[in-house]
Amino acid sequence: MDKLRILIPREQIAAKVAELAARITADFAGESVVLIGVLKGATIFLADLARQIQLDTTFDFIAVASYGNAKQHSGEVRLVKDVDHSMEGKNVILVEDILDTGLTLTYIRSLLQAHQPKCFKIAALLDKVSRRTEPIQPDYVGFEIPDEFVVGYGLDFAERYRNLPDICVLDSERA
Ligand code: IMP
Ligand code: MG
Repeated sequence: MDKLRILIPREQIAAKVAELAARITADFAGESVVLIGVLKGATIFLADLARQIQLDTTFDFIAVASYGNAKQHSGEVRLVKDVDHSMEGKNVILVEDILDTGLTLTYIRSLLQAHQPKCFKIAALLDKVSRRTEPIQPDYVGFEIPDEFVVGYGLDFAERYRNLPDICVLDSERA
């Protein structure tokens, strides 16, 4: 049996998402932004964040494979789905559930920077700072968390638990 323990309750997530959206709204006042969600983990964060951003906003999505079904990073990142539109001259905000080693976002950043966007920012709901191996920092970060495996609010373990409204630590006997 998997054991779940609430790390960040839904009310705290909602308050933080509102705060991040207000910062983005202020930082890009009078401009348009493209939110690029990293499938599938970022979908719930993107949906909540987007509805609080008071700017001309569009969405795009990108998908990469890195984790598989294990809790360990394979060390390899592969593009599964590219963005649908060119990001040339756009204000791009990459929306991600969690920054861990930084391998995934380093790969996506170089891919998107080749489009020559006007501006490129990273919004990460969670940051496992102690796990970072790549020199990459989020511009907008929700919560710094310890090195524990978390699920919920979009984050999965073997595709499960994405629908949990709170962010929970997963203590699995199968881990
Ligand atoms: P990174 O490339 O090591 O930064 O890993 C980033 C990706 O790993 C995220 O997009 C998540 O999909 C996944 N990931 C890292 N830590 C966790 C976790 O604690 N729970 C669920 N997924 C995680
Ligand atoms: Mg994932």
